[in-house]
Amino acid sequence: MSKVLYSSISQKFIMALAGLFLITFLPVHLGINLLLLNSDPEPFNRAAKFMSDFPVIKIMEIVLFAAIMIHIIYGILLQIQNWIARPVRYKKSNRSETAPFSRFMIWTGGIIFIFLIIHFFNFYFIKLGLVEGDPYNFYDVAWQLFTNPLINIIYWVSFILLGFHLYHAFHSAFQTIGLNHRIWTPLIKGVAFIYAVIIPAGFSLIPLYIWIVSS
Ligand code: HEM
Repeated sequence: MSKVLYSSISQKFIMALAGLFLITFLPVHLGINLLLLNSDPEPFNRAAKFMSDFPVIKIMEIVLFAAIMIHIIYGILLQIQNWIARPVRYKKSNRSETAPFSRFMIWTGGIIFIFLIIHFFNFYFIKLGLVEGDPYNFYDVAWQLFTNPLINIIYWVSFILLGFHLYHAFHSAFQTIGLNHRIWTPLIKGVAFIYAVIIPAGFSLIPLYIWIVSS
């Protein structure tokens, strides 16, 4: 069992599965957050309350946090193994199409992690009672938060980097789980590109809209 968990191919496989799970979380999270664009706070607050109270979703939240931890820990382990196995950087750059994104995955991932910590302070920790705020009115919390230009810049920069991270992660995860095919691979790359543009653009719209409307 421990051999399976520690071989680098299994690590990559487990990391890819956790990553694919996280990829399914983002459209759901975005869909609910787009309700923030509604001038009526009720639909968003009701959806947020449902997400907090519904037992199945509470279990999904535990799975979500487990997936985040697995993805981060295995990502760091694999990167360290890569650095140890290849201490001298190749002079000639790798010219594969995804190489620029792949080389920066550890850094874009690190920035997304920092973003998540800031993001939890902004919202999630209110629910846990660690930060002051009304957990039943995340609508007002968001509208208050995104009047701050610095917060908006932090969120936008994070979303752009999230897009780069998602583009490589999406199709590389399919490759890792063995879906590498003459026809499917270009198709998956196309879907990865659309996903990596639409998801961050959708998230960016929320602070942008709130900032414009409230200034
Ligand atoms: C403008 C964009 C975003 C807004 C307004 C937003 C809003 C929120 C809110 C209100 C919560 C607390 C929900 C609750 O616990 O009931 C939350 C939690 C969370 N957010 Fe975001 N979010 C945004 C973008 C993101 C992005 C891009 C990610 C991932 C990279 C993310 C990851 C999470 C996670 C992991 C949680 C904790 C789990 C959960 O409660 O569902 N969020 N967010």
